[in-house]
Amino acid sequence: MDNFEYCNPTRVFFGKGQIAAIDTQIPREAKVLLTYGGGSIKRNGTYAQVKAALGGRKVVEFGGIEPNPAFETMLKGVDLARAEKVDFVLAVGGGSVVDGSKFLSGAVFYEGDPWEIVLTRASVVKKTLPLGAVLTLPATGTEMNGNAVVTRRATKDKLGMASPLFFPRFSVLDPELTYSLPPRQIANGVVDAFVHTMEQYMTYPARGSVQDRFAEGVLLTLIEEGPKTLAHPTDYDSRANMMWAATMALCGILRVGMPGDWASHGIGHELTALYGMDHGQTLAVVLPGVLAEYRAAKHDKLLQYARRVWGESGSDEAAVDGAIARTRAFFESLGVKTTLAGYGLGADAIPAVVEQLRRHNRLTLGEGDMIDLDGVTRILKRCL
Ligand code: NZQ
Ligand code: ZN
Repeated sequence: MDNFEYCNPTRVFFGKGQIAAIDTQIPREAKVLLTYGGGSIKRNGTYAQVKAALGGRKVVEFGGIEPNPAFETMLKGVDLARAEKVDFVLAVGGGSVVDGSKFLSGAVFYEGDPWEIVLTRASVVKKTLPLGAVLTLPATGTEMNGNAVVTRRATKDKLGMASPLFFPRFSVLDPELTYSLPPRQIANGVVDAFVHTMEQYMTYPARGSVQDRFAEGVLLTLIEEGPKTLAHPTDYDSRANMMWAATMALCGILRVGMPGDWASHGIGHELTALYGMDHGQTLAVVLPGVLAEYRAAKHDKLLQYARRVWGESGSDEAAVDGAIARTRAFFESLGVKTTLAGYGLGADAIPAVVEQLRRHNRLTLGEGDMIDLDGVTRILKRCL
């Protein structure tokens, strides 16, 4: 375990009715930009609760943020925020709304070409509007981290960025807001949180006992609660555990002092940008391929995962085989297909993914940069 510094500045309000806490977190005199997506918050009652909590504050609305938020869309929001001179952003929705709003919160003050924010992974961001979030989809962890991912539709560039200034000031996590999620989004969320945990855990033994046990706890919770939330959409306890698991998976606590992989995400973002697959779908396809192709390098951790998470008791090699197979079967059991063919893609889809990574200067991926672009091709050939 390497030296580390850990600070998470996001204040979380978790549980039923917590939207009311917004009133204590946003100054009364603030002019609020309320951002949201395609309308789910209006259909499930979240919007009405948020408006009630905002009370007499001046509110300007910016809706229509799409899944995998478009840079082009968010620039319209930046124009609105500037014209209206808002001084607080309240993002209400899933990861796309929160991520797009984080970008907006920095772009408002940036005087250069806003694409530079993305290209520099937000290192040019020196000031942001304060941002709060009301999360309606447990998956990304954006509610308690400083990351944002936006896509420039015109050029098919889906790129992540991170800044300490992007942490929400506060986030409301009310599991009841997730009851209305369609099964596809619930399943995508379970897969996303699972793969976030794996990206920080499935590398090599690094003597971080707490981090390992914590990661295994998150994985086991997702395995237990994910299927329950699908089968019983209004089971509060399952929803609550699912939501907290997803937040813990990417709030930075699993990562401290530990190596990371992130190859499944690197490859997955290109699959979304090129072929429009959902983020969770890309991860369900790529992760089993990474595990199989880099089985030797990840062997010791795969074995630990097999024994502790899946309870595999056979010989070492049989246990590793079992763990990889059961990971794939778990995603499939949620209704998320784990092959490219499941999304209508074949071997001819692979070269463009590699080319995109080259264009984005992502020539090596994985822990220790062990995966080169030939490795990416081999991984994707395992995903057909
Ligand atoms: O747009 P609306 O109408 O709100 O509908 C959304 C959208 O169609 C719907 N939805 C959300 N909450 C709902 C609901 N429908 C019914 N009831 C509810 N309670 O779900 C659909 C998908 O929403 P989206 O926000 O796109 O999903 P998600 O939360 O999975 O976010 C995905 C985005 O986050 C990025 C992904 O790349 C992708 O762009 N990620 C962000 C990360 C981060 N900031 O740390 C890390 C992740 O690895 C990921 O890359
Ligand atoms: Zn993810």
